[in-house]
Amino acid sequence: MKGSLLTLGSSTERQRKLMAFGNGIADFRSDTVTRPTPAMRKAMAEAEVGDDVYGEDPEVNLLQDEAAAMVDKEAALFVPSGTMANQIAVGVHTRIGDEVLVARGAHVRQWEASAAQANSGVAIREVGALRGAIDLDELAAYLHRRPDDHIGVYRLLSLENTFNGNLVPIAHMNRAIELAREAGSLVHLDGARLFNAAVAAGVEPSEVAAGTDTVSFCFSKGLGAPVGSVICGTAEAIRQARRIRKRLGGGMRQAGVLAAAARVALGGWRRLEADHRLATDLAVALASVPGVGEIGAVDSNMVLLEQKDLPFGIDTFLAALESERILCGKLSSHVMRIVCHQDVDNADVERLIGVARSLVD
Ligand SMILES: Cc1ncc(COP(=O)(O)O)c(C=O)c1O
Repeated sequence: MKGSLLTLGSSTERQRKLMAFGNGIADFRSDTVTRPTPAMRKAMAEAEVGDDVYGEDPEVNLLQDEAAAMVDKEAALFVPSGTMANQIAVGVHTRIGDEVLVARGAHVRQWEASAAQANSGVAIREVGALRGAIDLDELAAYLHRRPDDHIGVYRLLSLENTFNGNLVPIAHMNRAIELAREAGSLVHLDGARLFNAAVAAGVEPSEVAAGTDTVSFCFSKGLGAPVGSVICGTAEAIRQARRIRKRLGGGMRQAGVLAAAARVALGGWRRLEADHRLATDLAVALASVPGVGEIGAVDSNMVLLEQKDLPFGIDTFLAALESERILCGKLSSHVMRIVCHQDVDNADVERLIGVARSLVD
């Protein structure tokens, strides 16, 4: 892996290397690498804008209305990132000293630089989970602990769907929400990839978000917009969210140029089905490479490969791919991640499979 894009410390060096790769690069590291489509760029150029901190940007207002309607909530707020959307949700629902329950490995706990602790003064408790589906017995045990001055108040259950590309079944989510409600807890859904979950479950996005107090989702991942996420909930929750966004420095001015791209992205959410199909095809093709073991179920646009199922080292594979201008991600020392999105296609998948074959020939 020495010298690889994935471990190279400096972003300047990384960028230089990417430029040197030029055209023909297949970037499977994440769906966040997607570039705005020509339709998005056109909408951005033509967007009518105003000052959104004054609530006067017409594109942002349209986007917020459309986003809220999509998940059947009263209101929505456009924010710069999925992290900020989650942090606003925690801020809206909790008070300092409260505890937030999440599935083990949840983004809000693991990948947001301890922001919930730093910004809202909460403690986050991880509950055991399988493929992102929280262990319901463990959850119930936490939620129903006898009130005691020694323990924090569980104010919020924060769910995530999809979770590392896995679909958390809607029935399972509903059961977790029911348990939280019985214990008087509020519920947020980190739906950074909510539309992938909807496609994977074969339901409308509003069904994935049903029963939650707030839900966030990102335009900048598989939907392909360059920037932006949204948090949706009751009008009162979103009124509070506006103040917290300001506090976090997330109030944007002529944000309509970004909202315009996000509106195009939102309108095309059903396209995600193609990414899921490509990921499944990729997993099937990889499983046919001699020595490759069983690959876990592919629910959406991500293929996770465990070291134990590969006849070659993950680092060897990543380096060989990179020398062919194919980039993949590494979740940990023993798990590799391949993400399909609008900027990769069948030909890129074939090239990737060719590299895997070359390592076992
Ligand atoms: C599940 C989940 N939640 C939140 C985020 C944060 O989004 P952002 O990178 O826009 O802050 C991500 C980013 O990958 C994510 O995967």
